[in-house]
Amino acid sequence: MLLGSFLFLITMANDNLGAAKKGKNDEFYTQWGDIESEVAAYLEYNPDVFRGKTILLPCDDPEWSNFTKFFAQNFETFGLKKLISTSYAPESKKFKEPYIPSLFETEAPQYNPDKSKTNGKIFVLERDITGDGTINYQDLEYSYLDGDGDFRSAEVTKLRDEADIIITNPPFSLFREFVAWLMEADKKFLIIGNINAITYKEIFPLIMHNKMWTGCRFNRRVGGKNMTFQVPDSYPMTGTELYVDDKGTKFISVAGTGWLTNIEHGHRHQPIPLMSMADNLKFSKHKEIRGKAAYDRYDNYDAIEVPFTDAIPSDYTGVMGVPISFIDKYCPEQFEIVGITERGNEFGLRTKVYTKSDSPKYSDWNCRATLLIDDKIQSVYARILIRKKA
Ligand SMILES: C[S@@+](CC[C@H](N)C(=O)[O-])C[C@H]1O[C@@H](n2cnc3c(N)ncnc32)[C@H](O)[C@@H]1O
Repeated sequence: MLLGSFLFLITMANDNLGAAKKGKNDEFYTQWGDIESEVAAYLEYNPDVFRGKTILLPCDDPEWSNFTKFFAQNFETFGLKKLISTSYAPESKKFKEPYIPSLFETEAPQYNPDKSKTNGKIFVLERDITGDGTINYQDLEYSYLDGDGDFRSAEVTKLRDEADIIITNPPFSLFREFVAWLMEADKKFLIIGNINAITYKEIFPLIMHNKMWTGCRFNRRVGGKNMTFQVPDSYPMTGTELYVDDKGTKFISVAGTGWLTNIEHGHRHQPIPLMSMADNLKFSKHKEIRGKAAYDRYDNYDAIEVPFTDAIPSDYTGVMGVPISFIDKYCPEQFEIVGITERGNEFGLRTKVYTKSDSPKYSDWNCRATLLIDDKIQSVYARILIRKKA
């Protein structure tokens, strides 16, 4: 073999490996219990939240997705008008695994072995086809989409526009694009995301302006575990957060993960119980606060540093920098979010920009909030800037 062809093959193999590696985090499947307990929180707040509504579940795998099963089984209980679920073509997925169509697909008269691989599918539920007097999972009808089911395609976008509520666990690698696509339509949504996304310049303004908030479960361990997803059988078993159950099904637990939404729920309106500044300085359980004369003030933002959410002083009226994990406890009646200490996302709250003459580290310092301690600048991890509501 010529050296050129050999190198070409190696490059191709590496590209495929790279693509598979990149795409593997897109194939995390949501568990029934996580959907059920999250949806319960919205129903508790408003029992009619889904009544008369059309729900779209994009980026799904309707034959076996728990999203499709869950909403189909509860179609009548929730009073849905219509359920639409779409899938992405197996050949378009970045993470390649052996593809076996389901019996549900192959036994239907419209089954097409070619389209099964190259086209997305659409499942619709809106009427009692079996004639058993109820509308449920058995009444789902499927057909092939014209394209591969990419959520950005014109045909899935049209379904988005028809829907009232969009619910899914979107592909991890396209999270920003997915949220932009959602926002274009101004619909209700319930999606799964990660806490790291909060700081993205495309996402943070939505949180700040109360266009998106954390759901009931976000960045929280339950039963000692982070939110856990099923992964494909061929998923590489590396890392401590992976395990196989006694049926051989693989799962992965992902730190910082949870629900993001613009649907109201009660947890969001529960204020954080807090102590006054004087009490925190005297009694805080955190040694970093207890016994100090005052909270530290940033060198480059007009705000105080509050390193723990439970150490937010209840009576301070200025701007406070709090950890990103505050987001799950944020109650819009208690605080307003005024910014974040991330370069490119400052909202005009920065009071100082360092230059070369300050230090060779000036560029790093400009990325975040800083503290001047013992005449030395210390960078602080990303902080959300908040202010007490009057
Ligand atoms: C995180 S998984 C979630 C699947 C399912 N919604 C669930 O939660 O069980 C995301 C799915 O989106 C698919 N996907 C990847 N890129 C996509 C795209 N551009 N458009 C639509 N779906 C896509 C993936 O192949 C994967 O099946």
